Order: sequence, then C-alpha cells, then structure tokens
Amino acid sequence: MILVTGGAGYIGSHTCVALLQAGYEVLVLDNFCNSKAESLHRVASITGKAVPLVQGDVRDRDLLREVFGTHAIDGVIHFAGLKAVGESVEKPLTYYDTNVSGSVVLTEVMAEFGIQMLVFSSSATVYGDPVNLPIREDFPVGATNPYGRSKLMVEQIYTDVANSDKAWRIALLRYFNPVGAHVSGAMGEDPNGIPSNLMPYISQVAVGRREQLTVFGNDYPTVDGTGVRDYIHVMDLAEGHVRALAWLKNQTGAHVFNLGTGRGYSVLEMVRAFELVSGRPVPYLISPRRAGDVAEVYADSSKAERELDWKATRDIEVMCRDTWNWQKQNPQGYPD
Ligand code: NAD
Ligand code: UD1
Repeated sequence: MILVTGGAGYIGSHTCVALLQAGYEVLVLDNFCNSKAESLHRVASITGKAVPLVQGDVRDRDLLREVFGTHAIDGVIHFAGLKAVGESVEKPLTYYDTNVSGSVVLTEVMAEFGIQMLVFSSSATVYGDPVNLPIREDFPVGATNPYGRSKLMVEQIYTDVANSDKAWRIALLRYFNPVGAHVSGAMGEDPNGIPSNLMPYISQVAVGRREQLTVFGNDYPTVDGTGVRDYIHVMDLAEGHVRALAWLKNQTGAHVFNLGTGRGYSVLEMVRAFELVSGRPVPYLISPRRAGDVAEVYADSSKAERELDWKATRDIEVMCRDTWNWQKQNPQGYPD
C-alpha cells in the first residue's frame, strides 16, 4: 500500500488514479486545506476502487504513528504542501512549517516504522533563472522566494537522509508546469479564488467565469515576447510517479528527475491552442511583467526517459482538450 499525502489535491488525485490503475492500493492523508473530499469520490468512480482516507495534518506525529502502525505501507508519495508563491512571501513561516517541518515529521515517522521508500514533489522553480536551456538536473539551483526555498531545503534534507542510511530510496521529482485533467473530465484543477497560474485562468475566461486574461509582459526575449514554459499533462506526471516508485525498488540513495516534455510554449501560443480546442474566445490584455517571472523555462527530461523509462506523451492539444472538458463539465470546480 502506498501512502499518498496531499492525495486529494490536483496532482495527488490524478496520481491516485494512475496508482490504482497500475494495481497499487492507496491510502490518502490530507487535511483538505486546499482541496475537497469530492476529488477522491471522483477517483473512486473512475477506477471503481475504494480510496481510503485519513483526514489530518502531515505535521501531526501522533496521527502518522497511528497510520503507519495500522496499515501495511510500503512507500510514500509526499504531495502535501503549500504552493502559492505570492502567499509564501507574505507568510514564510507557514510555508516552512508545512513544507519543511511537515516533510521532516513524516520522514522521522517513516524511519521509526522502517518504511524508507519515498517520492517527493519538487519543482522546476528550484532552478530560478536557468543558466541555459533545456534545463538539466545538474544545473545550479537557487530559489527566489520562500516557496522555492522550502522545496530546495527539503531536497537537501532528503539528500542528507539518504546519505546517512543506505536503506533509504528517494526520488525527488522536479515538475515543470502541470496542466490538463483526467480524460473523463470528472477530475481537474480546482484552484481556490482567482487562479494565479496560466492554464486555469485561461479556462475560466473561456467558460465565462472571468472577463479576460492578463498577459504578464510581452517584452521577453522569446518567440513572441511572452513567457515560455514547459507545460506537462497531469496524467503524464501522474504516470511518472508510478514509474518512479517501481524504479526505486531496486535503488538506494536520493535521485533527482526533471518531469517535463522538453518543449516550451509561450503564453500567446497557449491562448491560441486553447481557443482552437474550445471554440471559445480568450480575450487578453498585455500588462507589465510579473515580479519574479523568468523568460523561458523548459526541461531536458532525458534522464527520466533513460532511467525511469518514462516520457510525456500527451501534447498541447490534449492538455487543452482535457482542461476544457473538465472546465465545461465543472464550471465552478468540485461541489462542496
Ligand atoms: P494542491 O494544493 O492541489 O495539493 C496539495 C494537497 O496537500 C491539498 O489537497 C492540500 O489540502 C494538502 N495539504 C496541504 N498541506 C497539508 C498538510 N499540512 N497536511 C495534510 N495535507 C495537506 O497542489 P498540487 O498542485 O496538487 O501540488 C502537489 C505538490 O506538488 C505540492 O507539494 C506542490 O508544491 C508540488 N508542485 C506543484 C506544482 C504545480 O504547478 N501544481 C508544480 C511543482 C510542484
Ligand atoms: C509558477 C510559480 C512557480 C510554481 C509554478 C507552479 C511564480 C513566479 N512561479 O510558475 O514557482 O512552481 O507556478 O505552481 O509564481 N501568466 C500570465 N497571466 C496569468 C498567469 C500567468 O501571463 O494570469 C504567464 C506567466 O507570466 C508565465 C506563464 O504564464 O510566463 C506561466 O505562469 P504560471 O502558470 O503562473 O507558472 P510559472 O510562472 O511558470
């Protein structure tokens, strides 16, 4: 059985589908601070399998002891954390507490129970402004905000932990820009309030929930002046976790992997792709750059392809189609 912390969230819920379909049993731990139980009902209806849930906080040591003491857990995928860059600048201690202390408490309890296989959600944000493109795992790291630093700190902690005891097997997965939804349209990204990421913003404009997109800058040294990112379909990402788990069985140590497609798209390319797939206009307004943004980011994911036998297969059209399918069927996201 795999313990999935943060399993009710966007990436976690899609990963539960991929795990269940690959024959794993899952147990979700989530405190629902940024998700709803409905996402897990959708996982169950898509897979036809039950999704046992422990509602609680990953920093709650006693609860974790109870979880590990009462379930036959073989490994952990650790998604639980906070991810809003702007909020992390306002509330750094909240971010370090949840993301860093949460990871430490979880890992201590895992060690107590002799469970030493772990997949961790890291982010391409750890590369900051990349020195070159495409970005390889051995490029210099350096975060520019508390959220990014929390991810970097946890990566370093896990590297030290793995060095201290050869029984640890840890995959540090650096996601590029996850987008898209399950092909059924029953599951997708359901951000609270005004979306800060591009894809959910575009789809809310297309469905009529918001008037227009604000494009943050058109004076970058890119194909059309707007920011370029490596968007990756959330189900490709989910399958990357399943591959990483299988691969870890025969490994020791901590290993970093980029999970991206290796291709970048500009903001305006994304807008056009979405308009084409949805048949809806996505009006936009150009505004100044957003603080902290970089011009261009895309991955070299050849290490994951080589080692994990994993490669993203869903293209930009599928990413837009599945996002639109989810948005149309669930214009207000998951019900309470
Ligand atoms: P999400 O907010 O949808 O999911 C995170 C889940 O963790 C939520 O269900 C939330 O309720 C839960 N959670 C938060 N704090 C918790 C706590 N203290 N105890 C228990 N549960 C808690 O976010 P997501 O997009 O699915 O991201 C999952 C992970 O991937 C996060 O660690 C995030 O930092 C990382 N990541 C996300 C992206 C992205 O663009 N979505 C990119 C790179 C990395
Ligand atoms: C952001 C975070 C990053 C995090 C990632 C996934 C910042 C600086 N970085 O990355 O740490 O890992 O989300 O959660 O916040 N854009 C617009 N209009 C919008 C929204 C976005 O033009 O309303 C542009 C951005 O300027 C960027 C691109 O779209 O060029 C993608 O933005 P976004 O989806 O927020 O992702 P990142 O900035 O790559």
